[in-house]
Amino acid sequence: MSDPHEYAIERIGREAGRKIFATTGIGDPYRTGVPLPIFLALLRGFPDAFGATTGELADRFGFVRRAPDPASADLDEREGLPIGMHATVDPITGVPFVVTSCALCHAEKVRWRGGEALVVGLANKRVKIHAYDRAFSDVVGKPGFSVERLGRLAAEEAARKKIAWPDTYREAFTAAAVAALQQRARDRGELHARTRLDPPGRVATIEAFAVVLGQLTGRPVDFAPTVGWAKVPDVIGFAQKTTLSWDSSAQGPMDLLVVEADVAAGVRVAWLEQHPGQGPSLGAYLRQPAPRPAFPGKIDRDLAARGARVFDKECARCHGRYTPDGRVVDYDEEAVSAEELGVDPARVQAATASFERAANDPALTRGYTKFERSSGYVPPILSNVWARAPYGHAGQWPTLAYLATPPGKRAPRFVVDLGALYDLDAVGVAVLPAEAPAGRDAYVHDAAQPGFSVLGHSYLADTGPEARAVVEYLKTL
Ligand code: HEC
Ligand code: HEC
Repeated sequence: MSDPHEYAIERIGREAGRKIFATTGIGDPYRTGVPLPIFLALLRGFPDAFGATTGELADRFGFVRRAPDPASADLDEREGLPIGMHATVDPITGVPFVVTSCALCHAEKVRWRGGEALVVGLANKRVKIHAYDRAFSDVVGKPGFSVERLGRLAAEEAARKKIAWPDTYREAFTAAAVAALQQRARDRGELHARTRLDPPGRVATIEAFAVVLGQLTGRPVDFAPTVGWAKVPDVIGFAQKTTLSWDSSAQGPMDLLVVEADVAAGVRVAWLEQHPGQGPSLGAYLRQPAPRPAFPGKIDRDLAARGARVFDKECARCHGRYTPDGRVVDYDEEAVSAEELGVDPARVQAATASFERAANDPALTRGYTKFERSSGYVPPILSNVWARAPYGHAGQWPTLAYLATPPGKRAPRFVVDLGALYDLDAVGVAVLPAEAPAGRDAYVHDAAQPGFSVLGHSYLADTGPEARAVVEYLKTL
């Protein structure tokens, strides 16, 4: 096991957690990473699959771009790795490995008229993690995918960029990377076929986990008929929540759940056991999130005060109560059945009986966590909710104005333009009519696609003329 020094936690705490979240990730580079020279060789050798540069790679898969800075002492900055990608140096060989951190999915640049902010912890709306994963499988079948060619390209890239790539190891690393990618392509063929829809900012979490659980338990884990697409959530509610999923299906100590999820990304249970300070550090960080930008548009304070009273009557029983500065004070997490809500059930139905069995295998959980199939969704904590669109577990509601529309009157098909400025009037992502020409950063939301119904949650619409006041109040949280 390669264990770079930066993964040793000297002191459990917020700063160590921040570093994991924003930069280094959980680790286990031999399992979760790719040697940097091979990574660069893949970009150069297969620009159609990955993009020719790290900037093109970021654009293609929805990562947040970072411009290369050749003068920087930091390797990530020098290479212009997107936010959430990191080069960690293997202490055995000196070779940097590209790994990913939480910020790959949980960081977002919000742009509105007159300003912008990079908010770590807010969901990346564009990330297409399955497409990225698939790109590694797609190249395996292409002409030019061979140990010889990748080895040559990797050596050229390492020499050109002065990256450590010792003669004694390069052949072994190249052969191992090629074999690992071939094996991965075989293991994940069915997952890749099922997730080709690639809705941005959504992850087939249960399906991705199912593949890994099947490998770890040695028994097949079935997929549900419909993919349970889940929008990447905002992590701002960590301190008050008791589970980490939209459907509350996995229970256990929060500081354990927060690292356990990385097993789906390839981290070994043994790695987690050898780094017990990571979970509590992430917890310390997530329990005290950095201040977020306040709603940057105009707020009618009188209207908001009226909305607050309606909120306490109609919404607080599920979403909790909030202090004037938007902190939640009275929240007890409890899922509400999808049927009662009237929202799409695909995500709660994604875990099958064989999934539940595998997820509770004591060899994996050591008895610390419990997975129980759920029938409902958790009411999200609404602090900083203005910045979080598209809303709902599948990102099925593009704006608060849309959520305030009675379910039967919501447009079932529309274009979301992620390249446009954030809409401070409707409060959410920019929406265009279904027939509008879709730009490069636009996608069509079609409620007829399984998993993407826009119905349900009529509570806000049910407040009738008061809905405007409630939305005004939500802007203040
Ligand atoms: C591939 C994208 C991705 C990466 C990388 C990722 N997450 Fe997540 N995260 C998700 C998704 C998707 C969910 C929702 C899961 C579900 O319910 O299906 C989630 C849920 C969460 C939640 C629960 C939020 C809430 O209040 O509901 C927390 C906290 C969290 N992740 C923290 C982390 C940490 C810490 C890391 C890094 C160790 C990480 N995530 C890495 C996609 C990601
Ligand atoms: C019976 C419980 C319940 C009540 C009452 C309720 N909600 Fe919700 N709310 C939920 C659940 C559950 C979700 C998540 C639905 C999903 O993920 O598909 C949700 C989602 C939301 C979201 C999207 C949040 C996000 O992070 O995407 C907003 C905004 C919201 N509710 C506002 C309100 C307002 C305003 C009211 C009162 C007018 C209200 N809710 C009343 C349960 C409730």
